[in-house]
This record gives sequence, C-alpha cells and structure tokens, in this order.
Amino acid sequence: MSTTATTRIVGAPVPRKEGVDKLVGRAQYVDDIEREGMWHGATVRSTIPRGIIRSITFDPCINWSEFTIVTAADVPGKNHIQLIVADQPCLADGKVNHCDEAILLLAHPDKHKLLEAAGAVRIAYDPLPPVFTIEESEKQNEIIHGEDNILKSFLLEKGDVDSVWATAAHKIEGEYRTGAQEHLYIENNGMIAEWNREDGITVWGSLQCPYYVHKTLRAVFDLPDEKVRVIQTETGGAFGGKEDYPSILASHAALLAMKSGHPVKMAYDRMEDLAATTKRHPSRVRHRTALDKDGKLLAMEIDLAIDGGAYSTLSSTVLSRATLHSCGPYVCPNIRVRSRAWATNIVPYGAFRGFGAPQAIFAMERHMDEIAAAIGIDPVELRRRNFLHEGDANATEQRMREPVILDRLLDRALKESDYHAKRARYARENPINSVKRGMGIAAFYHGSGFTGSGELYLNSLAGVDVTVDGKVRVLVSNTEFGQGTNTILTQIAAEALGIDFSDVIMAPADTAHIPNSGPTVASRTSMVVGRLVERASLQLLAMLRDHAGLGGRSRGDFFAACARYREAHGKVESLCRYEAPPGIYWNDQTYHGEAYGAYAWAIYVAQVAVDTVTYSADVEDFWAVQEVGRVLHPVLAKGQIEGGVAQGIGYALYEKVLLENGHMANNQMTNYIIPTAEDVPPIHVIFEQIPFRYGGYGAKGIGELPHDGPAPAILNAIRDAIGVPVNTIPLLPEDLLAVLAARKCVEEPVAQ
Ligand code: MOS
Repeated sequence: MSTTATTRIVGAPVPRKEGVDKLVGRAQYVDDIEREGMWHGATVRSTIPRGIIRSITFDPCINWSEFTIVTAADVPGKNHIQLIVADQPCLADGKVNHCDEAILLLAHPDKHKLLEAAGAVRIAYDPLPPVFTIEESEKQNEIIHGEDNILKSFLLEKGDVDSVWATAAHKIEGEYRTGAQEHLYIENNGMIAEWNREDGITVWGSLQCPYYVHKTLRAVFDLPDEKVRVIQTETGGAFGGKEDYPSILASHAALLAMKSGHPVKMAYDRMEDLAATTKRHPSRVRHRTALDKDGKLLAMEIDLAIDGGAYSTLSSTVLSRATLHSCGPYVCPNIRVRSRAWATNIVPYGAFRGFGAPQAIFAMERHMDEIAAAIGIDPVELRRRNFLHEGDANATEQRMREPVILDRLLDRALKESDYHAKRARYARENPINSVKRGMGIAAFYHGSGFTGSGELYLNSLAGVDVTVDGKVRVLVSNTEFGQGTNTILTQIAAEALGIDFSDVIMAPADTAHIPNSGPTVASRTSMVVGRLVERASLQLLAMLRDHAGLGGRSRGDFFAACARYREAHGKVESLCRYEAPPGIYWNDQTYHGEAYGAYAWAIYVAQVAVDTVTYSADVEDFWAVQEVGRVLHPVLAKGQIEGGVAQGIGYALYEKVLLENGHMANNQMTNYIIPTAEDVPPIHVIFEQIPFRYGGYGAKGIGELPHDGPAPAILNAIRDAIGVPVNTIPLLPEDLLAVLAARKCVEEPVAQ
C-alpha cells in the first residue's frame, strides 16, 4: 500500500512550488495588484470599548463629496459575519462592544487623503462600563453577552472524579495563565473588491479559507453562490490569523466597491492590523489532580477559561480543542473538565496555530512538573508512568488504535539533549553562579483535522484534472501561505500518477474554479486533503486503464491515455469526497468518542539560562522530537517545526499584548517584541516516522503541533534553574523580577 511503498517524489526535498516566483519578485501579493479605476478604502473605528453610538458627524474641513461613505445602513443583506454564531456585525450598528470595532468605511481615489478624512469623522458615544478580563466577566456585574457572559461552555467527564479525593495519596492544585499573542504574519491583511450587477462580487485577498469568505459575502450581500467569487492572492503568512478576519475585510471592501462603483483596495498597515485583528485567546486553567502512592494519575479536575473577546467568532471551536487537549497524553480513569469562553470588551480573539491546545498544554505540562516536585519524583519518570500507549483510552475514551511511541520519543529526546547529565550538572553549579541553567520537558499530542464529526460535516471534495496542454492540476480550496500546501499536494499527485513533479501544478485558488475541499486550518491539509488528492489520482489511473487503454506506467503512457480519454469524454477530471476512517464514533453531546482521526505526538526539551542580575531568560538549546506520520517533505517539515518552536519561544518569553482601555497600546513592531534570529537557539528537529494509513501518503498533521510544546518546556526549565514555579506567560524580565520579589527571593523593586 502507498504508505509503505518506496516513493520517488514524496519524501524528497523537491523545490518549493512557488519558490522561484517569490524569490524573483514575480509573486503577486494583494498590495502589488492594481485594478483599472481602483479606489482605496479606510476604516473609522471605535475609540471606546463599550457604548451607544449617539451621533456621527462630518467635519466640514473635508470635501466629503469626493468620498464614498458606508455605514451599517448600506449593508444589503445581513449585517453580520457568518462564522459559527452570527453575532458579530459587519459594521457597528448603534452600539460598540470593543475598541477598534469598525463603524464606518471611506473610499477615495487617493489613498493619502483617507487618513485625514477618517480623522474628521466625529463619533459621539454614551459610554457603558466595559469588561476587560475573565474575572470581571465571571462576576457578571455587567452582562455584555447573552444572559451570563458565557460565549460557550463544555463539560467533559469520565469515571467518577469525586470518589477519589478522600483516599488519594497525593492531591496537587495549580493555576496557570497564558497571554494573548499576535500572529505577526509578514504580510498584513489586505483585500481588493469589485462589484457589478451582472457578476456580483469578486474579491482578491490574503486569506486562508476562500469558502469561508464566500459564505460571509453571500450573507452580507444576500447573493446566490454564483454571484460571489473569492480569489486568494499570494499570501505572506497566516498562522490562523487569516482564517476568520478576511471575511470581515472582504465584506468591507466589497461594500465600498458596491457603493462607489469602483474596485476598492483595503490594505492594512501594521498598526491597524495589530490593533484591529484577532489574536490568540488568553487563558486561565486550574488543575486539581489526585495520584496514588506510585505517582499514577487517579483523577484530574480541570477548570479551563478563555477570554473570547467581544464576539463569538471561533471561540467555541478553540474552546473545544483546548478542552480536548487539556488532560495531556496520559491515562487517567477519572476526569472532569469544565471549560468556558467568556465575553469581554476586547477585539475578538480568534484562530492561531494550535487553536486552544497551546493554552491547555501549557497548563497540563507545567502542572506535571509541580506534581513531580510535590511528590518527589523525577518529572520525566512521572510522565513515563502515565503515558498513553496503543490500546489505552484517553479523556474522551478514544482508544488509541494506532501505534503510540511516546516512550521511544522520550528516550530519544533525553539522549539527544543529554538531559539527565545536564540537569545534574546544573543542580551542582547553579548555587554558585548568577546565571542559572535548567532543563525542561514537555510531552504532548495534537489531534489532526477537524474535531469529532467536523470532517464529515465539511464533506470535502478534492481532485485532479488534466489540461489540454498536458499539465495535471490539483483541484482544492486549500491555500498556500508559506507552509507548503502547493508543494506537498503536487508531490502527492505526481507520485500517485507516476509523472514528474514539474508535470503537476495547482489550479488557481479561485472559488469559480475549485471544489470546496475545506479550510486550510486544523493541521488537516497533508493528512485529510492529501489523502483525497492521492485517492483522486489513483481513481484517475483506474479511469484511464478502464476507458482509455492505459497499459504501461511511464509518463508518456499516462499523457497519451489522457489524450485518448479527452477525445472520448471531453475532459479529464477525477474528484473524490471525504470518507471517515472506519469505526469513527463521536458524540457531540457527551463529548465522548473519537475526537480526532489521528494524533501527532511529541517530546520537547528546552535548555534555558536565567540571568539573576538582568532577570532575562534565554533559551540556549532546544530539542523537538515528534511522530507526525510520514514526513512528506523533509525541508518543509523541519521548517514547520523550527517556525513553531520560534513562535513558541515568543509566546513564552517575549510577546506581550498591552491593553489600555481595551485598545492594544503596543501595536508596533518596535514595542511588540518577537524573537529574532538572535533569540532563537539551535533547534534539533527529529522525526520518528510511523505512516498513518488514512493520511495522504501516510501523513498526519504537523502545522500546529510545534507551537504546543515550547512554552511549557521553557517554563519547566526556568523552574529547574531557579527552583521557583512560574505559572504565567509571557514571562518578560520585569515579570520574573516581580515573581521573585513576591517570593522574597530578591529585594522589592523600589518605585522611582
Ligand atoms: Mo488554524 S489556528 O486551525 O488556522
């Protein structure tokens, strides 16, 4: 079968499909594109976090007749963004629920005139008391959403948690917090829209999910399917940040295009992008854990809260993934996880690489080290005693039917990092050094693909066709945004069809031409869509054998048969629809069953130095050992891991979103600090490969996994170095100083 067969192209480091275009500057990003007669758009945003809009007036210093002005009153269909729950307006109508919420849009032929004009729109408000934190939202003094401020909640239960506490040998509690995080894709959000009565709306933009944008535009403009067309332009990074927001920006640009009669471009600058678009959900996770005298887990009670921001957006699915990853890759007979997403008057939080799992795994893996310290066993040994193995059931009672090799991954990570010897050496040296070193570990898994019955619901359709000039095209709605979709999917088609990598191209990411193979999210592309492309390719070969006399297996035989098939049937095309692996069962009410089709597994180790003079923590070395099924492209796979680890280092040690009255105060790259090459250590990337039989050429998900492990591994290493638990990230030097001052490890900082 294909997953174990020797391959020519899958597994080889072929050149990135669109690499040359990017290298020589031929790639067209949205802001490179000009349309005939194009105008530019700008957004007037709320300056308060919550209130009633009393009036909108226009300063006569501006000649407003030159401008197109759009408000909520101009929305022809439904004034909402169609994601999961349609509670977010496309443009604020009468009230605002967060700072930087879009209220009014302006368009003008000269983009330099927009800034002054936007500043001359005067909006008067009757302010209402805002809610800024999970704690304030929980108090329910102000109700800002529904009846209780809860955007979504889940209860996951297994066994009988309450029966265990009285007799357990050990009971350990802890609270863990994570902050917001910005995606900081290189290219900001941008969109161009055109409208005319015959064709409807066409948008070109930087985005992940063409059909999500399509769905929103249909609702906002009340148009049938065929009157909305979404085309992805070359996209400079996304990380989840272009999963939901482009639906808003596309609606705005299209409203301006419709009213002005001109194509309109809206390209955010960095400050607007940082202030107005989504970020990772902040979290607070409380653990209460019971263990027997041998350090085996008996019960876990977890209270998980995320800050959802002002509207539902994707918070329910982020919360779901957080809930499902909150118990780690461990066997535990009794579990209760209560999770809630709370509404606040902050810009809605959204999808970001990991999608709730990094928050939950930070808490679980930091907590494991506190358990180990409390009961006096080695943190590595504690994990080993509780690992899931093949045949075991996890928190949702999903039986692990595929091989689970956590022990092997752990052994490899310990050996490569020289973990035990270094830990012992640092323990001897730290008391006499001002720079203290430590080793930290994190064990985790990440579910690949949509949760539960999500993939069935998506009902993805993907395939290949053959053009008259002899190119095979991959037909998918999955997009390239730097992570390698184009390369991986063309590798798969070329491999399966027995032709060259250069014979295969991607069909343009244009809803007028491609089937809906689902969104490019949830670490699903290689595994789920890759499998569809593989099946469609094999189906095409069968069609050519049965109906066009394909006999030989050479490239020449293939294209000759395609020509004969075209003669007889007009076009050469093969499409396949998603089929769940057999035996998949999921109950969305009780949250039991096969939460994910497959899991990727990992052990990450961080070596950290903490300078007790400057309070800075520095990741000196890093080992990432994982099993992600088969590695389809060694260079791209390594790049995914290295990038995820770098982003995880930023999450742990550098990236802090500062809010002032609910507005991001440090919305510049000079004061929202991400790791640079200076701050990223050598990252040792190691793959153990176990092909997954239902993934594209044996692949499971890879994209999100590497963001889950770095933060807990780093904070565990800091704990090892300084002997003090730190349970909140990001941990900047001033935060570490405050932690140590509170513990009287250092003098209280003196106010200047
Ligand atoms: Mo994602 S965070 O599943 O785009």
